[in-house]
Formats: sequence, structure tokens, C-alpha cells
Amino acid sequence: MSPDAAAALVHDAADSLAGFADEFHHPFDGAGRKLVYLCGHSLGLQPKTAAGYVEQELKDWQRLGVLGHHVAERPWIEYHQQASAPLAALVGAHETEVVAMNSLTVNLHLMMVSFFRPAGARNRILVEKSAFPSDRYAVESQLAFHGLTAAEHLIEVEPRPGERVLRTADVIDRIEREGGSLALVLLPGVQYLTGQALDLAPLIGAARRAGAAVGLDLAHSIGNMQLSLNEWNADFAVWCSYKFLNAGPGAIGGCFVHARHAGRVDLPRFAGWWGHDPAIRFQMGAQFRPIMGAQGWQLSNPPVLSSAPLLASLDIFRRAGILRLREKSVALTGYLERLLQTRLRGLVEIITPSAAADRGCQLSLRIARPAAAAKRCHERLAAAGVVGDWREPDVLRLAPVPLYNSFGDVLSAVDALAIAVQE
Ligand SMILES: Cc1ncc(COP(=O)(O)O)c(C=O)c1O
Repeated sequence: MSPDAAAALVHDAADSLAGFADEFHHPFDGAGRKLVYLCGHSLGLQPKTAAGYVEQELKDWQRLGVLGHHVAERPWIEYHQQASAPLAALVGAHETEVVAMNSLTVNLHLMMVSFFRPAGARNRILVEKSAFPSDRYAVESQLAFHGLTAAEHLIEVEPRPGERVLRTADVIDRIEREGGSLALVLLPGVQYLTGQALDLAPLIGAARRAGAAVGLDLAHSIGNMQLSLNEWNADFAVWCSYKFLNAGPGAIGGCFVHARHAGRVDLPRFAGWWGHDPAIRFQMGAQFRPIMGAQGWQLSNPPVLSSAPLLASLDIFRRAGILRLREKSVALTGYLERLLQTRLRGLVEIITPSAAADRGCQLSLRIARPAAAAKRCHERLAAAGVVGDWREPDVLRLAPVPLYNSFGDVLSAVDALAIAVQE
């Protein structure tokens, strides 16, 4: 056995969270070979309990029809509320500050309706230049909705020339320089391409001092990092649940609205009946009276079947605990980094920051080859049974997830990558 393999065995034997891997279905290829799945940043694995949660709802629907709204084992009328406490624990918020609803981009639009309120000279949005395209489309279309243009009203921050990741001080400097022109600052928690975790507390502080509203895209942060949304004081945050929350493709997303906005009936919002006070919802009155807190931004009754796997997964998070998961994650990703540095130095460049505080579980790699050859390395890696993903123009993303990946998985991935890059 190689020293690396021996080390992986020792780490796995000492891992108190190792048992959670058995609570997930791990994919196999056509030949029945278990894949090394390092792609939780794109789609998390299926909790084995998810099917039971979905089947329960199908059975209750069969058995009860419409009565299931009130007497299903988990009554559908308040189905979404079962996610509130575990989501609040994951993002560091009060239960009333979070809601499971819609999907990420929909929630981003709903939040911008309320929190992007251009007025006079304060009419610009600051984003990072490599923002996920959907965020960019959403922001540009919101600008257009207000009769504004991206050319004049969108400010993009980017890494310094020759650098791959953002410097906190540079972003703060830009926020301070733009000052009174900023209506909204929209930032990611973890940047999807580079894997950089932004230092959110000082960035949010700077934006608020400048008088701007602050929103966060936590697609790659929730279930990955420890978050303290209430304390950090962002105005809103949005996320999806199909990545590190393992709730399945297209699963219901989520939203945070800070408690200081809970009673803001003055804010414009796109309203729907599920955001209306449940005590009088079925009186079918014409006047909208919003629920105090994040639930007041709901539009429609919750999609029970696409919410059920989220509850299954959140129960696993509750038992594992985000603190312990993060501790393992730091060790697991650190192990991946060390193996890459010792075995593939000069062949693979890690563009994700090296400090644990500046990244989540994902490492983003550039393969030191011309673009087409680098992409072929990824294809060879996939053919060898390692699931990561390729993002144009030149990034291979690998994410060991502490809930279901082992140190052995990381070693197998690096073994396969070593062959793929040298072929
Ligand atoms: C960072 C980020 N933002 C936004 C989205 C869009 O999510 P949705 O399709 O759920 O709206 C994604 C999807 O992967 C993402 O990674």
C-alpha cells in the first residue's frame, strides 16, 4: 500500500462522520462500478430517506385527497414551515427570517423588487464580474425594468490583473468610492467558478455604511460554510437546495429576509396568497396583509413533492451538525490540496484560495495544457469514473463533500487525475 493510501485509511478510520456516507445513494456507471462523486457543488447525492418522504406525500394524497392539506402526516398547508428551523440553523438566522420557496433566480427577482429601489443618483448595482450568468441576467433585467441600462448602472468588481480571486480590500474600496450611487450590492457567498469564499461580514458592513441594500447568492454556500446572516446584517439572501443541501434536481429554493424588514409593509413586493396572513387567508378577502418575516414574500402554496427530499436532507444536517461538517470539510479539502501539490505540481494549478477561511469544500483547478487538451483531461477523468465538472473557459471543479465523501474518494480522484493529465 502506498503511503498516500495508508494515510487515507487512517483519516477515514478517525472520521466520526464517516457513517453518514451510507445514508446516501452513490451513483454507479454502466459497468456497475461505483463512481467517485466530487460534484456536490452541482447536484448533491440523494439521501436514502428521500424516497420515503416523497412516498409519504403520495400515499397521503392517495388516501386523503384534499383533506391532506390539514391531516396528512405532515400537513401540506404548512409544509414549508418544517424546513424553517433547520434552514435557520444552517444560515445563522431566526426562524422567521427564512423561508423555503420557489427557486434561486425567482427569489432573487422577488428580493430585488423589494430591495433594489433606485432613487435619484442612488441607482446602481454592484456585482462581481464573473457572477453566475443567471444573476447577471436577473440584475440586467431588473435595471431595464426601472428604465436603467447595464452600461451606466451596473458596476462590476473583478480580481486584479494577473490574479484569479477578489481581494476584500479592493471590493470595499470600490464600494466606498461608488458610495452614494449604490442602490444594491449583490455578492456570492462562495464564488461558483473559483470556489473563493468571500469575507462577507466586512463587505456587508461596507455596503451598508455606503447606504446600499445588500443581497447574497448563497447557492454554493448553504450546507457548505458556516453562515451568520442575522449577525452580518445583509438585507436578503437567496439559495438553491439541489447542491450541498441534497434536495434533488430543481428542488425548492430558499430565501432570507433580515428581521429588520419583517414588518416593512411599506416595501413594494410582488404579492401572492401564500404570503398573506394564514389566520385570514381563507376568508378570501381582497386586501393583502403580509405575514411578518420572510414568509410574507411567498407567492404560491408550497410544492410538496419537491420539498419532501429537502426535509429528508435537513434531518441529516441536523444530526451531523454544520460545525462538525465544516471541520471535516476543511480537513478533506486540505487533503485534496496537499495531494495535488505533492503529486501534480506544475501540471495542475489550484485557483481556489489556500486559506481554509477563504474557501468551502470545492477546489477549482486549471490544467497546465492548451484549452482543448485540458478539457480532454476532464473527459479522461470522467471516463475513469470520477465525477467533477468542467466550466468554460478552463476550470475543472472538484468538491469533496463531508457528508458523503471520504479521504479514500479524494485519493482515488487524484490517482485518476494523475493518469489523465499525463496521458
Ligand atoms: C451561483 C448560482 N447562482 C444562481 C444559480 C441559478 O439557480 P436556479 O436555476 O435555481 O435559479 C446557480 C445554479 O447553479 C448558481 O450556481
